[in-house]
Amino acid sequence: MRLIISTLAAIGLSAVFAGDVRADAAAGKAAFEAQKCTGCHYADGPAREKSIADQLAKKGPELWYAGSKFKKDWLNAWLQDPKPIRALAYNSLTKKNAGDHPKLSGGDAGNMTDFLMSKTSSEVKAGTIKPKKSLKGKSIFNKKMPCTGCHQSASKKGKVSGGLSGPTLVGASKRLNPDWIYAYLKNPTHFKPFKAMPTFAGLLKDKDLKNVSKHVSKLK
Ligand code: HEC
Ligand code: HEC
Repeated sequence: MRLIISTLAAIGLSAVFAGDVRADAAAGKAAFEAQKCTGCHYADGPAREKSIADQLAKKGPELWYAGSKFKKDWLNAWLQDPKPIRALAYNSLTKKNAGDHPKLSGGDAGNMTDFLMSKTSSEVKAGTIKPKKSLKGKSIFNKKMPCTGCHQSASKKGKVSGGLSGPTLVGASKRLNPDWIYAYLKNPTHFKPFKAMPTFAGLLKDKDLKNVSKHVSKLK
């Protein structure tokens, strides 16, 4: 019994010490609530339990699957220096919402990144998509399907082109987890029941959903 108590005390103490040097998800959760992130974002899921009115009640996108969607380093950096991702007024920082987004200090961003990275979706299976060049995926993205009609992307030489109604995919390789891209293309309503992005799962074979996911996860 004494051994158990002293072991527990040691674990408790090391957690306290670790808290000084490492980012802390519990502190991130408290800060997420204190800094009113919840005023613009849902951090609880799943999306399908929400109505259209619920979705429109928040200015920002849902974050309840952030840990499955984002790459950690991108998230940490963006929280300290948020830049627009969506060009249109809805769910966007441009136009009338310009300058609206809180900018976090390094410490707060680290804690909040840890908190958000702990929020994952079981729909996203790790290791499904290896981010490598796919010529098939590239031709689906640029020619066979209307992806570029709604999304911006950059050419090899860095020339940006494409439509503005979807989030920009410039820098998708740094921002998005390849396995999330595939899960999202396969079953978008799991993440957003009321959505402006078409469902391609019936139009493309599973293999091609994987190919186009590979292509998107390489976009610079
Ligand atoms: C006034 C409303 C508002 C508040 C408050 C707010 N956000 Fe946002 N947030 C937005 C909007 C709008 C976007 C979409 C930006 C874009 O796509 O250009 C966004 C985007 C994000 C994204 C990227 C999401 C994605 O899917 O691309 C993250 C992460 C994020 N916010 C975290 C936070 C955190 C953490 C806080 C609290 C410190 C916070 N936000 C507070 C409005 C807000
Ligand atoms: C009719 C316009 C339209 C077309 C066509 C379209 N998308 Fe989208 N896409 C959107 C919109 C709008 C969103 C944002 C989803 C939302 O908020 O409802 C989105 C979201 C996404 C996202 C998630 C981005 C993020 O940061 O959240 C990816 C990845 C994506 N689309 C890839 C594709 C691919 C690949 C294709 C072609 C196979 C495609 N899209 C075709 C409009 C479109």
